[in-house]
This record gives sequence, structure tokens and C-alpha cells, in this order.
Amino acid sequence: MVEQLMEAAMRAANRAYAPYSNFPVGAAVLTADGAIVTGCNVENASYPVTNCGERVAICTAVAGGARTITAVAVYAPRVETVTPCGACRQIINEFKPADDELWMIFSSASGPFVVPFSEILPRAFGPRDLQDWGDGPPDWS
Ligand code: THU
Repeated sequence: MVEQLMEAAMRAANRAYAPYSNFPVGAAVLTADGAIVTGCNVENASYPVTNCGERVAICTAVAGGARTITAVAVYAPRVETVTPCGACRQIINEFKPADDELWMIFSSASGPFVVPFSEILPRAFGPRDLQDWGDGPPDWS
């Protein structure tokens, strides 16, 4: 599965729209249902409007009905290893499993390697920290 996710991220990087940075990124997420959903960075002439590959993959998975993501693979052909920006780490945190680790998959010269998400965003603030649920807690299933 690690290899499969990295291969999907690599394919997604080919579809990146990165004319300003010339830094293509592909991402592949594994949903709790076992689906692989991909994304690539999509830049904009108004630079800050850019969406990162990880965010596009996660938002696509969520729009398809996913609410829990168990792994995220990221690939950028111009560097050996790319790790998510701070904003994407926060977005990944939103959809990590309630009681299990989420696994990050990064590229290296010797192949993909796995890092627990809690290592790259320790002590994260997330949806379960909000005590006032308003209309009740979300259904995590
Ligand atoms: N980028 C990503 O898509 N993911 C990352 O993990 C790092 C950065 C994008 C944003 C921008 O399009 C380009 O890479 C250069 O920052």
C-alpha cells in the first residue's frame, strides 16, 4: 500500500498546475474505506490563492464523502523529499482517525518511507478540542 500510494502521488504530480513556482507536487490519500484519492498543486496568478497538492487531495476525498483519512503520500519531482506546509498539516489533522495514527509517506532516493503524522504536527489543535459542539458532535463514522 505504501508503494501504491507513492505511485499515485507521482502520477498526480504530472497533472500539477505550477507555472509560477515550477514546483509540481502530487499527493495521494487513503480513506478509511480503502479508496485512494489524488491531488496536485493548483497555482494562481494571484499567488497566495494557490492550493497545495495535499489540500486538493484531501478536499477531493472529503467532497466524495470521506471523513477519515489514514495515510497521505506526497511527492515533488524537484526534491528528494517534500513534507507538507503548516497549513496542510492542520488540514490533514482535521481528518485523521480519532484513535489511530495517520501515516505520512514521503519519497527518498531509496524509496518511500513512513512517518507518523503526530511526529510532524505534535500537540495539534483539532476538532475534538472544541468543547461546545453546538448542534452536537459530528458523526465520525
Ligand atoms: N506545495 C505543495 O503543493 N505541497 C507541499 O507540500 C509544499 C508546497 C506547492 C505550493 C506551490 O504551488 C509550490 O508547491 C511551491 O511552494
